[in-house]
Amino acid sequence: MSTSIQRYTRSERSSHWVVAITFILAALSGLALFHPAFFFLVHLFGGGPWTRILHPFIGGVMTLFFIGMAIRFWRFNRITPADRQWMKRIGDVIQNRDQNLPEPGKYNAGQKYLFWIMVVGIPVLLVSGMFIWQPWFAPFFPIWLMRVAVVVHALAAWIMILGIVVHIYAVIWVKGTVRAMTHGTVSEAWARHHHRAWYREMTGK
Ligand code: HEM
Repeated sequence: MSTSIQRYTRSERSSHWVVAITFILAALSGLALFHPAFFFLVHLFGGGPWTRILHPFIGGVMTLFFIGMAIRFWRFNRITPADRQWMKRIGDVIQNRDQNLPEPGKYNAGQKYLFWIMVVGIPVLLVSGMFIWQPWFAPFFPIWLMRVAVVVHALAAWIMILGIVVHIYAVIWVKGTVRAMTHGTVSEAWARHHHRAWYREMTGK
């Protein structure tokens, strides 16, 4: 029988899930404000005015928890020369030919690049969002800056939504990953197969 290895503490998992839930709520309320085709989503938030009021506050909570999470995961996401090799051989990753790949540590290069997209994307959303946040901050800024901010905000949000769709797809696609964020543990077999250098570090094998 395969034993388990601890991957996340209870508090790491809690902060991840607060970020995940607030991200989804921010995305749904933001889409409702973005285009009439998504306007029906306002019903989830108590109507149009409430969607408009709540959206920036949800984004603020997400940013705060994201900062806490990003600080904890920062050191595991440094890009190494082995990560560049891994990225070049992405074909082997997709075909599951792991024997041709450098051994990943706690995270593989795909996870790391996505982490950095989040680290850049969330502050961009926060700052561009502040410029257009009526009635609190927007009155302090010139109209041209608000116009630029609206475009930057929408663009950054789309990139982030696509990134998170890839993130969710990947954790479901790689069997045995979701339990890392629900129970905090992974099987030894999972660690050996997907994150061999981390497996060695954790088990000394
Ligand atoms: C329903 C949506 C989500 C699900 C099901 C999910 C699931 C997971 C799982 C299972 C892991 C563990 C992967 C591993 O240890 O190899 C993980 C890691 C992570 N997730 Fe999520 N997640 C979701 C949304 C989000 C969102 C919205 C963000 C941030 C905006 C996020 C940021 C992260 C980060 C930073 C990690 C650690 C990976 C790293 O540091 O490179 N997740 N997620």
